[in-house]
Amino acid sequence: MNAGIIGIGRCLPDKILTNFELEQRLDTSDEWIRTMTGIEQRRIAEDEQNTSHMAREAARQAIADAGIDPAEIGLILVATVTPDQPFPSISCMIQQEIGAVNAAAMDISAACTGFMYGMATAKQFIESDVYKYVLVIGVEKLSKITDWEDRNTAVLFGDGAGAAILGKVSEGRGILSFELGADGSGGKHLYQEEFLVMNGREVFKFAVRQMGESAENVIKKAGLVKEEVDFLIPHQANIRIMEASRQRLELPVEKMSKTIHKYGNTSAASIPISLVEDVEEGRIKDGDVVVMVGFGGGLTWGALAMRWGK
Ligand code: COA
Repeated sequence: MNAGIIGIGRCLPDKILTNFELEQRLDTSDEWIRTMTGIEQRRIAEDEQNTSHMAREAARQAIADAGIDPAEIGLILVATVTPDQPFPSISCMIQQEIGAVNAAAMDISAACTGFMYGMATAKQFIESDVYKYVLVIGVEKLSKITDWEDRNTAVLFGDGAGAAILGKVSEGRGILSFELGADGSGGKHLYQEEFLVMNGREVFKFAVRQMGESAENVIKKAGLVKEEVDFLIPHQANIRIMEASRQRLELPVEKMSKTIHKYGNTSAASIPISLVEDVEEGRIKDGDVVVMVGFGGGLTWGALAMRWGK
């Protein structure tokens, strides 16, 4: 039996920062941001709302949705590049806060691909019968590493968290295949010094190529063809990148997740936040083949194909 998702949750800060507000602060425009990225607004955490607070809220929702006892969680994986502090890890903080007394805990640093790395790792531990349940969280407070004077990056990012509980699911459901990758030679295109620094054009080219390739690879590895894919959740970094992967899979617009206009790029949180909305709003249904694909700093990439349902 495959590992699959049995509970989901998310947390988004209340504060909304619109393109129009950014226009007042920077040499940019709503028109440029919307046309070039698809972003209209993003959520920004308050100073006192830490990464761990958003992660905890998403985790609590996912546990309630799964209907499990936190003591049964064997492992907590938190994907983030914006932890409250270098250590203790966010995952250890969450372990204590949710009462997952029997869980091992570690953070994953794979930038925007972090949730994909977490999901693939969780799958291994569940299918080898080491752990019954694994909690995977993608969470970022990118606003704290954003240079608000740099128009190249300040318009792109947002804060938030998404979480999933993974466990064994019924025959034919769950994660059917995955792919993870990294190319350290591209690290220079997206990194953090004091603030986040990005060579947008290089990242764009890499993303368009890699998202399409990875999505096709996991479909093939799952023994499927692209006509069998019901829904695509691409990392929400730029609508033009997302559209390129949708077109490569020849999916209609309504079969692709889109939350970027509301939340911007929330890095490791973007795929699980989108998943929650797609499930809640009925775009993903029991038995659907869902492909998730992400890319990010490292450079890293990851994708998986799953059949939705417990
Ligand atoms: N507002 C207005 N103009 C802006 C701007 C902004 N916020 N940012 C850049 N520009 C200008 C540039 O200065 C440039 O002007 P010029 O032609 O006079 O030199 C022009 O817009 C084009 O800039 P460029 O950076 O070449 O545009 P682009 O087509 O590469 O689009 C991004 C920029 C950032 C939207 C795009 O590169 C991108 O999305 N890259 C991937 C980023 C990403 O996904 N990062 C996260 C990875 S997880």
